[in-house]
Amino acid sequence: METKINEIADGIYRLSTFVPDIAPPAGFTFNQFLVLGDEPLMFHTGLRRMFALNRDALARIIPPEKLRWIAYGHFEADECGAMNEWLAVAPQAQAAHGQTGCMVSLNDFADRQPRILADGDVIDIGGKRLRFIDTPHTPHGWDAGVMYEETTGTLLCGDLFTQLGNDKVMTDGDVVGPAIAAEDVFRYSALNPAMGRTIRSLAGLNPRTLALMHGPSFHGDGAAALSALADDYDRRVTGALRDTLLPHAA
Ligand SMILES: [Fe+2]
Ligand SMILES: [Fe+2]
Repeated sequence: METKINEIADGIYRLSTFVPDIAPPAGFTFNQFLVLGDEPLMFHTGLRRMFALNRDALARIIPPEKLRWIAYGHFEADECGAMNEWLAVAPQAQAAHGQTGCMVSLNDFADRQPRILADGDVIDIGGKRLRFIDTPHTPHGWDAGVMYEETTGTLLCGDLFTQLGNDKVMTDGDVVGPAIAAEDVFRYSALNPAMGRTIRSLAGLNPRTLALMHGPSFHGDGAAALSALADDYDRRVTGALRDTLLPHAA
């Protein structure tokens, strides 16, 4: 396996590792995002077992010990499994996550005390500003959240829009259809009644770039893509409720 590096927005680098054995024959990507500034921030740590790959990739951009912030979407091995390995190589680095995530996992899991982010809090890294937004249970995880980089209009989506395959680094094409297809395969989302509303609220940011953890980065009308994804989850949630409740109604 190798980790490829691409700049997907000004000063934002995608570190991507393709694993052909997951969901073959399409395969599956794991992407971390390095946001450069006076205090560089990485969104997702990558899997613990991929740490060496990701460290060596990051070292081609900045010395790993310069990393200052480590944030992620929710507590899972691909999002934060290598947290303590990164904290060990970057002595100034601090983990940052939402209130729920720190309370239920990170306060215990991280080898150093994390910074607790309230919904809407901004980390100003000097040259870039990253806003944390709570998205509980969306697409999964009580502690789930995303980050929005305000100067480039980049939404660090985490698992939202997850798709299979590795045919593109960046796309201005459809990211909603492939995400719907991947949801049909993996059933990875915690369907909940607030889900459509939560995703639709992100459309209000009008992001120009969507940085997918599992898939290409998207340039274009981020609001339209988020609204369409929200519509599809509304359809799923409504369908699931109908299938569950109606057979027993009256
Ligand atoms: Fe996840
Ligand atoms: Fe993920």
